[in-house]
Formats: sequence, C-alpha cells, structure tokens
Amino acid sequence: MERVVITDGSGNAVSTIEIVDGATALRRGELLLPGDLSRHRVGVIVQPSVTRIASAIEDSWRERGASVRTITVPDREAAKTLSVAEDCFIQLNELGLTRDDLIVGIGGGAVTDLAGFVAATYLRGVTSVLFPTTMLAAVDASIGGKTAVNVGGKNLVGVFHHPDRVIIDLEILRGLPPEILLEGSAEAVKAGFIADPDLVALYAADGLSANIADVLVRAVRVKAGIVSEDFRERGVRGTLNFGHTVGHAIETLTGLSHGHSVAIGMVAASYSSAKQLGFPETPAVVEILQKLGLPTALPAGVARSDILELIRLDKKRDHGGIRMALLSRIGECVVMSVDDATVLVGLTAIGVTS
Ligand SMILES: NC(=O)c1ccc[n+]([C@@H]2O[C@H](COP(=O)([O-])OP(=O)(O)OC[C@H]3O[C@@H](n4cnc5c(N)ncnc54)[C@H](O)[C@@H]3O)[C@@H](O)[C@H]2O)c1
Ligand SMILES: [Zn+2]
Repeated sequence: MERVVITDGSGNAVSTIEIVDGATALRRGELLLPGDLSRHRVGVIVQPSVTRIASAIEDSWRERGASVRTITVPDREAAKTLSVAEDCFIQLNELGLTRDDLIVGIGGGAVTDLAGFVAATYLRGVTSVLFPTTMLAAVDASIGGKTAVNVGGKNLVGVFHHPDRVIIDLEILRGLPPEILLEGSAEAVKAGFIADPDLVALYAADGLSANIADVLVRAVRVKAGIVSEDFRERGVRGTLNFGHTVGHAIETLTGLSHGHSVAIGMVAASYSSAKQLGFPETPAVVEILQKLGLPTALPAGVARSDILELIRLDKKRDHGGIRMALLSRIGECVVMSVDDATVLVGLTAIGVTS
C-alpha cells in the first residue's frame, strides 16, 4: 500500500491518499472509515455506474453498526447542480447527519466534486472521504480540495474543502473501459510533463498499457506535492494548467472531451514553450500523446479568432498578457505571461490557420 499526505502551508497534514491493489469490500470499508462506527451516520453519494461496488462497502459499515444512507445521483455533469446538492442536503438532514458524522463520495470526478461541495457546505462543513473510481478522479479531481457545482458556467460555484482521506483501489482502475482510462491518462501524462520525467518515460514505453500502479502512484505524488507546496493556489499550482489554456477553449468550441482537448492544448503549449523558452522536446510530447491514442491536432473548422477570444476570456489572463504554463524541459514547468505571438505559434502547430 502506498500512502501520500497533503500538507498545508504550515506543514500540517490535511488529507491522506492511500493506494491499494485489490481490496475486499470489507477492507475498502475499513480504509475509508476506520474505527468504531456504532454511533455514526454515513451519507454516501454515489454514481449510478458504481452502485454495486458502493453497496458492498456500505454493507460492511452497517455490519460495524453505522446508519448508512445511499444517495444515488445522476451520471456525469448532471450530478454537479445546486438542485442535486439540495436533494443531498435534504436526505442528509432526514438521516439526522451531524457534524460528528461522515460523508463519502464514490464515483468519478463529477461525484467527488459534488460530494466535496456537499460536505463543505452541509452544516458548514462535515468530514468527507472519497473513493474515486475513474482514472481522472484518482489522479486529479479527488486531490487538492477543490469542490464545485456548475451554475451557468462549469465549476462556477464551489469551495475549498479537503477530504480527510482518499482511497484508490488499482483493481478498479484496471477494469475501466479504455476511453475512461484514457481521459485520466491525459491528466496523468500532464503530471509527468510538468514534474516527473520518469512518469513520462512509462507512457513513452508502453502507451495506455503502462503499468497502472507505477503511473498512478507517480501522478498522485505530483499532484499532492504541488498542492502541498502551494496550498492557497497562489503560484506553482498554475503548472497543473499545462495544456489547459488552449485546451479549455478547444473543449468549449468543439465539444471534444476534456482529456482530448487538453492533449491538443498540450501540443500547442509545447510549441509555445519552444518559442518562449527553447523547449527542445516537442516531438517527444507529440509522439507520446499519439502513442496513448490522444489527438494532437484540431479538427478542421475551428477559427483562430474564436480560440483567441476564449483564451482572453479565461481567468488565466493578467494585465501583462495571457498567462500560460510552459515547459523548459520535460519535468520542468513555469507559469508566465506570454504575448499573442507565442500563443499563435502553438495554435498554428495544432492546425489553426485562420
Ligand atoms: N476538483 C478538481 O480539482 C477537478 C480536477 C479535474 C476534474 N474535475 C472534475 O471531474 C469531472 C470529470 O471526472 P470524470 O472524468 O471522472 O467524469 P465522471 O465522474 O463524469 O465519470 C465519467 C464516466 O465514468 C463512469 N464511471 C465511474 N466509475 C466507473 C467505473 N469504475 N467503471 C466504469 N465506469 C465508471 C461514470 O458513471 C461516468 O459515466 C468534471 O466534472 C471535472 O470538472 C475536478
Ligand atoms: Zn484537466
């Protein structure tokens, strides 16, 4: 078992991530909620695709004396709404859940974001524990304390609230459908590009068949390390946005998935890095993304002006220009203001011509 700890600015542990491989429901239950449960109420927020996994874990808590209420929420982004959050609040209140009790989120990033938001706001904050079941939730969404629901804009309303514990079972990730594994692998390889050349090497050698234990542990360490280093999100956390400045615009304009959009965004950012910082490894970035089966260029018909407009609207712009995460080498990333010419080099490289 691998254990990674997130610390705040003063070095205090705020959240623990434990990575296990093939635990029984009983063991998962113990890891998520250790100790005596006989006087505890547990509200479990679950995604429809994993209700079976969840219900076996819940049974183990009931056997240990807990009062458990399962709240199954709609799939994907339909879970991340204020009205679903309200329904959770109502059900938790019916259960009689107090501040001494626990909220558990089981599912992909949509559920970990929602469960975190509900835990942060119900009774002004209740302890939460997360069991991410997609690669993206395991390497990204469940780590770092960002919670959110969508109100008009995506992730517009949220609050920072770290889960007490995150438990990741590799066996679940190994069983994921390839497209769901791929979504999270785009973020995992991003973690490598910004901070861990050995993680990049794993993907370079084996693509999507890379050893999941090795990539997962490395990607979790990168994210947890960056979050601990910049707990209040004032600096180095910006490097986690590598590929996202252009990627978000692509996602909005094309409807491509987040992982696919970020992959194309990482190609653009690599070319921009080459212009701005002399980054020498752009061909390797492109080759690795292709090996994974991720796109590296835009579909036809996306207008340069539309992309630029969206980038300018994005929050990452400051008065000096557009702020972008750029690579100086694989494993070394800096966030800096760039001018339009640097952005345009990247856009041209991904096939935006006019
Ligand atoms: N808080 C953060 O820092 C952060 C970071 C990145 C992404 N996010 C959020 O995460 C969300 C995306 O996460 P996601 O990609 O996990 O999406 P998701 O939660 O929508 O899950 C994708 C699909 O996978 C299915 N699924 C879940 N577990 C499964 C399993 N074990 N086997 C088969 N199918 C399974 C789900 O039912 C869903 O249909 C977005 O809402 C995004 O905003 C948050
Ligand atoms: Zn992302």
